[in-house]
Amino acid sequence: MSNAIITTGRKNQSKSTALAREFSSKLNIPFVERQNISIPKLAELHEVQYVLVAKKNSLRLVTANDEIFFHPSLAHLRIKNILNGEGDRMIEAMNLQRGMKVLDCTLGLGADAIVESFIVGEEGSVTAIEVNPYLAAVVKHGFQNFTDDNTHVINAMRRIKVINADYIDFLRGAEDKSFDVIYFDPMFRHSLERSSSLNPIREVADHRALSIEAIEEAKRVAKYKIVLKENAKSLEFERLGFDKICGGRYSPIHYGVINIE
Ligand SMILES: C[S@@+](CC[C@H](N)C(=O)[O-])C[C@H]1O[C@@H](n2cnc3c(N)ncnc32)[C@H](O)[C@@H]1O
Repeated sequence: MSNAIITTGRKNQSKSTALAREFSSKLNIPFVERQNISIPKLAELHEVQYVLVAKKNSLRLVTANDEIFFHPSLAHLRIKNILNGEGDRMIEAMNLQRGMKVLDCTLGLGADAIVESFIVGEEGSVTAIEVNPYLAAVVKHGFQNFTDDNTHVINAMRRIKVINADYIDFLRGAEDKSFDVIYFDPMFRHSLERSSSLNPIREVADHRALSIEAIEEAKRVAKYKIVLKENAKSLEFERLGFDKICGGRYSPIHYGVINIE
């Protein structure tokens, strides 16, 4: 039995039905008529953990405690700062340049992937992996359909290739040195209270720790660097062999770097 269903919003149900049916078939989850039933009631009736809601050409993922939807606001701000000549710690840790090929192993809500895509430009590429199929679908649909007038952000997100997979499986199947930089931003071992932008995905995200095997595979697949984002006090950097640490002295977040010889 599936642990998710898909339905429409309450308003304009007929307009969103096509989108709901499209994702019902793509994700292999049942389509359920919304009628006038609340989302918690639908989840209870169908005994599912997740309800996807198609509304006005957007997809939302509703769980018992949260509603997850795609919005590029964080990437927006970072790209604005980069255009104003300010640095971006993640980009500096990656030493990311135009034309590079990035493998972002932990898509989440996609903000980091958008910033990476903006930097590498049309000549480069960003492939982003997300293990939760519903989160991957919401963000992939958002990358392709979200509109506003910031062409830097829109063009960057449209170019990202999203893949629903476990990164370990993807890495095992990838060719040697097939990406310039590989990036991991796993759910922190000890989360920071302040990282409110990620609060909505806590319930749907995969919380497993990064394995030594994943790092060994990444060393084979990366040409230049592997970068890990973690809580500044995390012991993960040492456990996984990240020698160089980037991040301000007072920053709660650090980036560990493994340089490939
Ligand atoms: C901290 S979030 C990433 C946030 C992201 N960098 C952003 O800018 O929004 C970590 C994400 O990685 C995903 N994840 C965890 N383990 C994974 C795995 N083995 N394969 C693919 N995705 C994974 C989680 O489900 C979660 O969505």
